[in-house]
Amino acid sequence: MASSTLISDTQPWKDLKAHVDDIKKSHLRDLLSNEERSRSMLVEFDGILLDYSRQQATLETREKLFQLAEVASLKQKINQMYNGEHINSTENRAVLHVALRAPRDAVIQSDGKNVVSDVWNVLDKIKEFSERVRSGSWVGATGKELKDVVAIGIGGSFLGPLFVHTALQTDPEAIESAKGRQLRFLANVDPIDVAKTIRGLNPETTLVVVVSKTFTTAETMLNARTLREWIVSALGPSAVAKHMVAVSTNLALVEKFGIDPNNAFAFWDWVGGRYSVCSAVGVFPLSLQYGFSVIEKFLKGANSIDQHMYSEPFERNIPVLLGLLSVWNVSFLGYPARAILPYTQALEKLAPHIQQVSMESNGKGVSIDGVPLPFEAGEIDFGEPGTNGQHSFYQLIHQGRVIPCDFIGVVKSQQPVYLKGEVVSNHDELMSNFFAQPDALAYGKTPQQLQNENVPQHLVSHKTFLGNRPSVSILLPSLNAYNVGQLLAIYEHRIAVEGFIWGINSFDQWGVELGKSLATQVRKQLNASRTKGEPIQGFNFSTTTLITRYLQASAD
Ligand code: F6P
Repeated sequence: MASSTLISDTQPWKDLKAHVDDIKKSHLRDLLSNEERSRSMLVEFDGILLDYSRQQATLETREKLFQLAEVASLKQKINQMYNGEHINSTENRAVLHVALRAPRDAVIQSDGKNVVSDVWNVLDKIKEFSERVRSGSWVGATGKELKDVVAIGIGGSFLGPLFVHTALQTDPEAIESAKGRQLRFLANVDPIDVAKTIRGLNPETTLVVVVSKTFTTAETMLNARTLREWIVSALGPSAVAKHMVAVSTNLALVEKFGIDPNNAFAFWDWVGGRYSVCSAVGVFPLSLQYGFSVIEKFLKGANSIDQHMYSEPFERNIPVLLGLLSVWNVSFLGYPARAILPYTQALEKLAPHIQQVSMESNGKGVSIDGVPLPFEAGEIDFGEPGTNGQHSFYQLIHQGRVIPCDFIGVVKSQQPVYLKGEVVSNHDELMSNFFAQPDALAYGKTPQQLQNENVPQHLVSHKTFLGNRPSVSILLPSLNAYNVGQLLAIYEHRIAVEGFIWGINSFDQWGVELGKSLATQVRKQLNASRTKGEPIQGFNFSTTTLITRYLQASAD
């Protein structure tokens, strides 16, 4: 396929379009009765089991998706990513988050340089520094140990680390190593978030980590200045050196802010913000909380999937299969959303993180060559742990719109509870729902079944479930740091696969710029109005009225 050809112009895309009618005639009830099909839709790798038999897809569909992958040059694109080519063409950057979790002796070249040695230089520095803080050999300005950490950052400099922190918070090994320590995140520029974050903290025992790839993000820099003031007003200006450190690609700006670059942890422009949790962005604050050895396991889990993604044939390749099926659901079956439904509370921040990874990556309107797409790319991601979600939005998923679901279950609970006299453990209860929901969605309930149950006729249509609603089930052996790393990498690669097939650039994010620059204009006007009494100008009637009202009311 010529690089400027849109994927929708290719024969495999057209074949899949034509194939939709056949699939729409089938029902998951029937598809699931074919055991051979179900068996061939089970994939196992490194303790993870993926079951995609509840997709509205046959073996023929899968074959056609592989043909689509072939014409989209999926394998070549994966290789280009792993080889450090500048596949983020609009920013002229490599996309090498896989290098962040490569073993020390691996060689991954970008622009003629082995980036793995740079990665390990920073990891070694993180290990050393975090051990000093954790052991109490690095102390605050008044000689007290720094037991509390506030990580300031937003978007990719926040969501991934929060997801991992939330997942580890209830893991026994991580709990043990985090004893007596606290990690908090400050993301929103809303002063409420500042107040909430520092409530109960003592500047004397707090280390503030400013996390920003660019070190220019308005929200993060304002929050960083606010917490610098919090430290300085309590401990004096010289305390900044002991209480503030940074993670950034822009060490010059770190220094300008007043943080010693020796106390900064670097990463590189080939790490996209939303793919940065395995860089110092996540590894540093998480190592302060849990110790480097725990976080190293997280990196190893991600690396296991990186290798799988790179070398496994597509038939057995978990992220590739998931990515292709997502494209099938979005672009052919017309299901624009995806529900992420982990049956473990420890993954409550998975969906918010994947929202950014997926929607900032694949929410694009043009191909990588700048040609407007004649189809809609990207998925609308949302989710909530089960069983909570069941009592919230599952009604719509069962009887309203069709939303493909990711069910994620864990064999061994992080915190098992066996109540005396109960036959099933609390975890069994949770997992009963994990096993039941995909079948409820797939099979539904027919009017005939309801009539056999003597349901009054006037309720039959209300109680009917059409079924035929697709899902995948992912079963993890447990949820330790290693498994969390695996899960993260599965999603990251799945999203890249989708973008590679759609032929878009999944690694830039121009869509966030317009709002930022308009906010800058508003900020200037707010300042001019407050300091010089200048009238609000340059906006439409509506915005002018709103800003003016805000200024008047907040001055009262
Ligand atoms: O929201 C846009 C964005 O650029 C994200 O891609 C990024 O993760 C976030 O802002 C934070 O950026 P930085 O790490 O440079 O502060």
